[in-house]
Amino acid sequence: MNDILRLTDFEAAAKAKLPTMAWEYLDSAAGDELTKQWNADAYDRIQLSPNVLRDVSKLDISLNLLGDTLPHPILLAPIAYHKLFLPFGARETARGAMVGNAVYCVSTMSNTTIEVIARDVPEAKLWYQLYVQRDRDYTKSLIERIAAAGVRALVVTVDTPVLGNRFRETRAGFHLPEGLTRAMLEGLPPELQISGHETDLQGIYYPLCDPKLSWDDIEWICKTAKLPVVLKGIMTPADAERAVHTGAQAIIVSNHGGRNLDTVPATINVLSKIVKQVDRRMPVLVDGGIRRGTDVLKALALGATAVMIGRPYVWGLAAGGATGVSKCLNLLEKDLKIAMALCGLTKLSEISGDIITQ
Ligand code: FNR
Repeated sequence: MNDILRLTDFEAAAKAKLPTMAWEYLDSAAGDELTKQWNADAYDRIQLSPNVLRDVSKLDISLNLLGDTLPHPILLAPIAYHKLFLPFGARETARGAMVGNAVYCVSTMSNTTIEVIARDVPEAKLWYQLYVQRDRDYTKSLIERIAAAGVRALVVTVDTPVLGNRFRETRAGFHLPEGLTRAMLEGLPPELQISGHETDLQGIYYPLCDPKLSWDDIEWICKTAKLPVVLKGIMTPADAERAVHTGAQAIIVSNHGGRNLDTVPATINVLSKIVKQVDRRMPVLVDGGIRRGTDVLKALALGATAVMIGRPYVWGLAAGGATGVSKCLNLLEKDLKIAMALCGLTKLSEISGDIITQ
């Protein structure tokens, strides 16, 4: 781990450790994987415009998000099946998140229940990502369980009426290895559980995502949940405007790391328009392609309240368990602080579009 100095250093370490199927699942995206590539490339093309001769001897990158004070603006995005990457799975991630002072958003497709994660890592700050299930009574009971487990926010993924066409995943014969389950979804009516993740056997629909999910359902969830609701997967100002009126309390600008609809723009390229539309009525988070402190800084400068990282922390998990996850967070936080200091910025509220070269 001593050789690992930046997030991308974890990538090769993870690849070396993981079986091909798990690696292909983690690394792949939809279609020709253009959006996945664009997410990262778009940050390379944004240039910074630093201020000099400012006192940067004290930095404070804390923020308030949905009622919680967070020491830094980096969260862990929901990623399915952590036991594919390490036997102890999501509990290890939660430990790493706790040490790295980050919120960890647990996926509906977690191999470990939210109750077990919360019990074993009681100090972890958890959010929960919901794939709304067709059976609304079941969905309601899931939401109640999540609230009872002490989760701080409910993230509803809205960009997945069907799964993207992920060729590498299909070629690798992706399936859940024996012994791994979708722990949170046990108890789901069997007719909705018949299939695993073998998209090629199913036509285009995936039994665990509801293709009928609509804005009315989101309003229902916002009324039902006794938790702040966050909509993940907003990519246009029009949908952001709609989100503001549903009762949701935040949105995440996300294209699912390029895993759903290929050739949608990089998230950082649609962020400013969405932020402008939302006009401070709710926090706007962003994910996709964030690998460096300067990437985080650019996202904040273009109006994000906070960012999420996906694949990089799973590289950390695969390479070094909880220590890998916390190291990944620490490296990114340090890199952000260095970038801020070099731009003459001491707190998040000082970051604005002025530091982006037009
Ligand atoms: C994901 N993502 C995801 N999103 C979600 O809402 N629920 C989920 O279960 C998953 N599962 C998942 C698995 C894997 C292997 C990946 C790579 C991604 C999307 C994830 O939350 C996030 O939007 C992206 O990963 C962000 O992009 P980067 O940081 O990976 O580039």
